[in-house]
Amino acid sequence: MSRFVTAALAGVILSLAGGLLATGTAMGADDAMAKGRELAFDRKKGNCLACHMIADGDLPGNLGPPLIAMKARYPDKAALRAQIWDSTVSNPRTTMPPFGKHGILSDEEIDLVTEYIYSL
Ligand code: HEC
Repeated sequence: MSRFVTAALAGVILSLAGGLLATGTAMGADDAMAKGRELAFDRKKGNCLACHMIADGDLPGNLGPPLIAMKARYPDKAALRAQIWDSTVSNPRTTMPPFGKHGILSDEEIDLVTEYIYSL
């Protein structure tokens, strides 16, 4: 391989890596919200709609309370995150899965879901 091609390839690889790093570290607030909504609605991830009414979610269940006015119910965003991470702390007999404690969602995914739910 010529030196030129090698250098060009190295350049492409570096810029791809740079792009990946940029998306990983500088996700905008809108992106985080959209990703959080996707995770909350995904039946193989949060599946929050199985039990909670959420604005513009289809066919919600009603085992849990509707997720509305979240800032009024959780003035402290960390308390909302804690509820999603381990719902059994506030109620040991809850039917809500402890998403963080049981590794159903990663810490990063819980951050994204929290951002979205907090906006409701
Ligand atoms: C299997 C049913 C179920 C699923 C799935 C579920 N929840 Fe819940 N959730 C509940 C129930 C029931 C409660 C009521 C409180 C309790 O049981 O402790 C609750 C309570 C909550 C609360 C507290 C609301 C309040 O005002 O007190 C929040 C916030 C919440 N859930 C968020 C979520 C999110 C976000 C998801 C998805 C990642 C989710 N839940 C998935 C059943 C569920």
